[in-house]
Amino acid sequence: MIKKGIILAGGYGTRMSPLTKAVNKQLLPIYDKPLVFYPLSILMLAGIKDILIIVNQGQLQQFNKILPEGKNLGIKINYAQQKYPKGLPDAFIIGEKFINKENVALILGDNFFYGQSLTEKLKECAKLKSGAKLFLHPVSNPSLYGVVKINKKNKVLKILEKPIKYLSNMAITGLYFFDNQVVKYSKSLKPSKRNEIEIVDLLKKYNNKNKLSVEFIGRGGAWLDAGSIKDFYDASSFVAALENRQGLKIACLEEIAFSNRWINKKQIKSAIKFYGECKYSDYLRKLIKCICEYIKRWSGNNNCNCC
Ligand code: G1P
Repeated sequence: MIKKGIILAGGYGTRMSPLTKAVNKQLLPIYDKPLVFYPLSILMLAGIKDILIIVNQGQLQQFNKILPEGKNLGIKINYAQQKYPKGLPDAFIIGEKFINKENVALILGDNFFYGQSLTEKLKECAKLKSGAKLFLHPVSNPSLYGVVKINKKNKVLKILEKPIKYLSNMAITGLYFFDNQVVKYSKSLKPSKRNEIEIVDLLKKYNNKNKLSVEFIGRGGAWLDAGSIKDFYDASSFVAALENRQGLKIACLEEIAFSNRWINKKQIKSAIKFYGECKYSDYLRKLIKCICEYIKRWSGNNNCNCC
């Protein structure tokens, strides 16, 4: 079972300047929450409780304010700082001590996932014992992403980063599950032309040993990455449309922690105090009120344990 997860929330966010001059991109809003809540919610849905957030040097305080040590969520949040972006696999070099001898998941701080039965898939992936696992999703503009070509049996035949010539429409999303070899492999990577170590080179190492497998978000699911201002507005509209229609929030961290049974009413109450008077707190208040009904309906468990 993978118990540890890394959120890579560094980077300069230059494409979004001036918004990102003073504030880390991952703290900007996707509708009603900071962007970083969304990838964190994905790790929590996978059942991962020990989390390392890698931020830019000098931005620790910003993150600490909104996501302190994680007690209110029943998880542990650790931080590490990155001097400058050196490529995604650098997360495993920075996180070596945190990872220790265990397997680890990595999610990029600007990735947004949504989908029916995603939680079950995430939990399955977190069972990874050896090798590496990728999440794939089709895109209309594959040249902007890492892309794989797979055969009918979902074996990875080819991996390319931002291919100029069409290879396939299957993009590699920013969610990965790795065994403990990932630290050693990351350290052995040579920087590419853009002077970064590349995630695709890391994945190729696993694939060459027949240790790379893939999972799909599924046709009805959504994957968005918030790299540009337009992406932020698109993702915000998506979240707003769903939340306002259903009255259910996406990436409400306390709700996930609660349905995982990591926290109880007491922590939700202190979360309400922490956030202050706002719509998010109103939602948490509603959650407390109908907690037993909630558990029975959404977590498939008939013993709510609280009444
Ligand atoms: C990175 C990875 C790419 C992946 C993408 C997902 O690209 O290098 O393989 O498809 O994240 O968001 P970047 O966003 O750094 O251009």
